[in-house]
Amino acid sequence: MQTFLVTGGVGFIGSNFILKARKELWANIINLDKLTYASNPQSLEDLQDDSGYHFVRGDIGDIELIRHLLEQYQPSVIINFAAESHVDRSIFSPQDFVQTNVVGTFQLLEASRTYWEKLSQNKQEQFRFLHVSTDEVYGSLGSTEPAFRENTPYAPNSPYAATKAGSDHLVRAYYHTYGLPTLVTNCSNNYGPRQFPEKLIPLMILNALNEKPLPIYGDGQNIRDWLYVVDHCEALYLVLKHGRIGETYNIGGNNEQTNLAVVKKICAILNELAPKPDFCYSSLMTFVKDRPGHDRRYAIDCSKIVKELSWQPKENFDSGLLKTVQWYLSNLKWVEQVESGTYQTWIQQNYTDREAVLSTRAKS
Ligand code: NAD
Ligand code: TYD
Repeated sequence: MQTFLVTGGVGFIGSNFILKARKELWANIINLDKLTYASNPQSLEDLQDDSGYHFVRGDIGDIELIRHLLEQYQPSVIINFAAESHVDRSIFSPQDFVQTNVVGTFQLLEASRTYWEKLSQNKQEQFRFLHVSTDEVYGSLGSTEPAFRENTPYAPNSPYAATKAGSDHLVRAYYHTYGLPTLVTNCSNNYGPRQFPEKLIPLMILNALNEKPLPIYGDGQNIRDWLYVVDHCEALYLVLKHGRIGETYNIGGNNEQTNLAVVKKICAILNELAPKPDFCYSSLMTFVKDRPGHDRRYAIDCSKIVKELSWQPKENFDSGLLKTVQWYLSNLKWVEQVESGTYQTWIQQNYTDREAVLSTRAKS
C-alpha cells in the first residue's frame, strides 16, 4: 500500500480525508500537524489503534523535521492541507498566515524537491505533491459574472487569500522550474462534520443551540458556493490518482447560497431537530458590522474535473446540511473540547466590537 504524508490532518478537511483514506484503504497515513487552535485530536480518535496511521506533531516550516519524515517513511504522496485558514483571523494577525501558508509551504516544497530528486526514476514518476487551495485566490465576483475557471486571473483580497495565492504560485513554480510532480486544487467553501466553530456554519449551529445571537455580517447577501467536505475529499483522491501533473483543478458544489439563506436553513433544521417551546431559532439572527474587504460572491466552474476525472458531488445542500447539524448535535463532547478558553478569547475579539456597532445602530 502507498504511504501518504498528510499535513494539517487534524484540522477540518484533513481529518475527514484521513478517516476516509483509512476506511477505504487508500493508503497508510503519516499525519504531520502543528496542533494549532484549529485542530481537535478527538476528530481522529477512531484511529488510535490503527497501525496504518501515525501522527507526528510538528510544523511544515521545520525543514529538518520534514526531511527526516520523508527519509523515514518514504511517502509516494504529500498532501498539503496545513494552513491558517480563517479570513477574520487573517485580518487580526496576518503574520501567522504569511509564516505558515507562504514560508511553511516553501519549506515543504524544498524538502519535497530534494527528496524527490533522489528517488529512482520509477518512484519519481509515481510521486505527487498535492496542494489544497481555495477559490478565494480568484477574488470577488459581481452578481452576473461567470464562475471562476482554472485560468481566471488571481486577485486575492484578504491576507488569507493572498497567502494562499502566494503558496499556489510557489507550487506552480516548483513544477515548472524543477519538474516536481505537483497538483493544485482550488475548492469552494466546505461544510460538514469536524469544522472548527469559527466558520459560518458550525458557528451558527452552536450559537443557536446556546441561544446566542447569530451574527450575520453586512446585509447577509454575500454569496458562497458550498461543498460537503466528503465530496471534496473524494475529488482530492481522484486528482491524486488521475490528475495531470502541473495542472490545477477547481472543485465546487454548484451550490451558490447567500449567507442569509444558509443561516435560515440552519434555523429551520434546528426547529425540527432541537425544538424549544415557543421559540424559533431565526429570532436569534442579528445583522452586525461587515468584515473589511468582504468578498461579495464566489462561484466555481468545476467542469474541468467533471469532464476529465468524472467527479460529481454526491451530497446536495439540504441533505449535507442536515447531516452536518445532526453531527454537531450528536458530538457535544467534541464541541466542548474546542469551546475552550482560547475559543472564547477569539469570540470576544471578533464579535465584541461588531455588537457595539450593532447596538448603536439598533438604538438610532
Ligand atoms: P483548518 O484550519 O480546519 O485546519 C488546518 C490544520 O493545519 C490544523 O489542524 C492546524 O493545526 C494545522 N496547521 C496550521 N499551521 C500548521 C503548520 N505550520 N504546520 C503543520 N500544521 C499546521 O483548515 P481546513 O478548513 O481543514 O482547510 C485545510 C486546507 O484546505 C487549507 O489549506 C485551506 O486553505 C484549504 N481550503 C479550505 C476550505 C474550507 O472551506 N475550509 C475551502 C477550500 C480550501
Ligand atoms: P467563513 O465561514 O468565515 O468562510 P469564508 O470567509 O472563507 O468564505 O464565512 C462564510 C461567509 O459567512 C462569509 O461571507 C462571511 C460570513 N460570516 C458571517 O456572516 N458571520 C460570521 O460570524 C462568520 C464567521 C462569517
